[in-house]
Amino acid sequence: MTRWLTPEHINELSADPKQCSQMDMPLQLDLSKPYVPEDYTQLYYTPVYASLSREQRLHYNQLSALRINEYIMMLEADLIERLLPPLLHHPQVAGDKALLLALNTMMHEEQRHFRGFAALNRACRPDLYPPGADRFFSVLPWWTQAMFGVVGLLSAHLPFALWFLMAMEESSKTLAKDMVVRPATETLGVLDQAFVRVHHEHLKDETRHLHIDAILIERCLERRWETANAWLFKRMLVGVVRPTRGGSGVKVIHQLVRDLPELACRQDEMVDALLALRNNRAFQVSLFNRRIMPTAFRVFDRCHALANLGEEMAGYDRR
Ligand SMILES: [Fe+2]
Ligand SMILES: [Fe+2]
Repeated sequence: MTRWLTPEHINELSADPKQCSQMDMPLQLDLSKPYVPEDYTQLYYTPVYASLSREQRLHYNQLSALRINEYIMMLEADLIERLLPPLLHHPQVAGDKALLLALNTMMHEEQRHFRGFAALNRACRPDLYPPGADRFFSVLPWWTQAMFGVVGLLSAHLPFALWFLMAMEESSKTLAKDMVVRPATETLGVLDQAFVRVHHEHLKDETRHLHIDAILIERCLERRWETANAWLFKRMLVGVVRPTRGGSGVKVIHQLVRDLPELACRQDEMVDALLALRNNRAFQVSLFNRRIMPTAFRVFDRCHALANLGEEMAGYDRR
């Protein structure tokens, strides 16, 4: 993809129900099945993973999948609600009625996605997500909270988080494709089909969102502020690529131990292995790489100020 769809074309597509995500489907989960490919979970990249029993790995996979859904929900709510509304008034956006419509539609679609993923998590674990509680693992750490606050304050002039949004929307698209194309996991059998269906539906809207992100980057990330935007973007990544003791990955391990108390004696070992991922190249590359976000990487390639992005984003291979 080198040229973006026009806002008019995006609006035509989003008016066609066949092109839109249906996120409110009935959910019949099979608790004996894994929910996501194993290489999308954190402990997979540690030596601990292979030493867990199949039942323990399966349980970890299911909890990790809930965390992944919450992560997508965090982008759809916390990030988008701070980043996009100020851009409706940007000089390069405010006069373009078709783009304004596309942006408003996108924000509504993200609210629907949020509700869809919240319902999926509740169907999987009603005990962790009682009515009204949509987040269990992803109560935001201080760094992310502070960064999202900065995004909201600066978005109108320095919308650096558009690069992050584009990369994450594209990676959620690739996750959905991976789940459909390779439904068999490495060691846990076939993915749960209800889980796959929700992610596959999500992909439909996200395909259009990627074009909106690219248009906004072209129009709103001004060349004269490129260096400042790039500096802020790199600071934002620091909190994303480093697992912390207070972060959602450690919370998944704590829940795993609550659910499977026989693992209590291995909790510290699992947490230490998880924290060590900050220096694990295979894990770091798995977060951001050209396979899962090819379009976003091509956008990064064209930006002079992101030439040394590989210092913060291990998987970025400048081309
Ligand atoms: Fe979404
Ligand atoms: Fe999206």
